[in-house]
Amino acid sequence: MNHQEIILVTGACGQIGTELVKVLRDKYGRERVIATDIRSIDETSSAEGPYFRLDVLDTHELQKLVTSLNVTHIYHLAAVLSANGEKNPLGAWDLNMQSLLNVLEVARMEKLQQVFWPSSIAVFGPESPKQLCGQYALIEPTTVYGVSKAAGEHWCRYYHKQYGLDVRSLRYPGLISHSAQAGGGTTDYAVDIFHQAVGKGYYECYLGEQTRLPMLYMPDAVRATLQLMDAPAENLSIRSSYNLAGISFTPAELAAQINTLLPLTITYQPDMRQSIADSWPESIDDQQAANDWGWAPAYDLKSMTADMLQNLGNYEGSSSSSIGMSKH
Ligand code: SER
Repeated sequence: MNHQEIILVTGACGQIGTELVKVLRDKYGRERVIATDIRSIDETSSAEGPYFRLDVLDTHELQKLVTSLNVTHIYHLAAVLSANGEKNPLGAWDLNMQSLLNVLEVARMEKLQQVFWPSSIAVFGPESPKQLCGQYALIEPTTVYGVSKAAGEHWCRYYHKQYGLDVRSLRYPGLISHSAQAGGGTTDYAVDIFHQAVGKGYYECYLGEQTRLPMLYMPDAVRATLQLMDAPAENLSIRSSYNLAGISFTPAELAAQINTLLPLTITYQPDMRQSIADSWPESIDDQQAANDWGWAPAYDLKSMTADMLQNLGNYEGSSSSSIGMSKH
């Protein structure tokens, strides 16, 4: 990126947006990163810089913001996640799909320099390989969220091929962060469990104890995003969305890891999210991301757990050195 970039982020108050906006502002300057979300400013705590209320389904408003603020880059994060999507499939399709098309169209018309859009491991389905699911594995999503992400990937590739739009995307696994709650996904337990561990020492998990899923700690996810966006265009062989992996674990393994630092009792009461989780791979092969732009995760289960608890600030001896925090 050059020094003229003005970045607009949609869904800025969501799980990824909350963290990404901070990092983008640190990197590019506060005034150059415009946070937008459906929430009005008084409902947010993240107004430490330019903030506008924006419904991404309103193309006219989006275009007006882009042109009036001379926006050059959009990070389009607004979306309905997998579990919430199943409660209102047509609504989820409408928001996830139409908003992406709005962003792509505005980006094409206004000749924006770059667009980022998150896809998900939810594009995969029960027939995709369970272990080390590859970049080109069968895409047969079972949720409307996954269907919208799979279709969105094709649209991204289409806009790149037809119009030369520099749109880039990652298939995020479940994301774990301490500063923002997850919102309506199947992997949310891996965030909730930390809050409940710290608050009550007890967690009832809505997935079975042996449900292994691909996950990623938010600092790694943010770093991957910036690394992908900074990569020379000629290095990118994937214009749909890159597989991205970090840590794969089960609720039982996560609970055991938390238990090494904080007493936690866990019980299991699987609900409708179990069948969604069962349809996804247990681990992801992200070799293409490693090859094309040098991706490697820094956190493993142990260091992620220690860092989460340290940041939630509630266990004895909470200095990183005292718990042997290691990045690999
Ligand atoms: N974390 C997302 C979800 O559970 C997957 O991309 O819906």
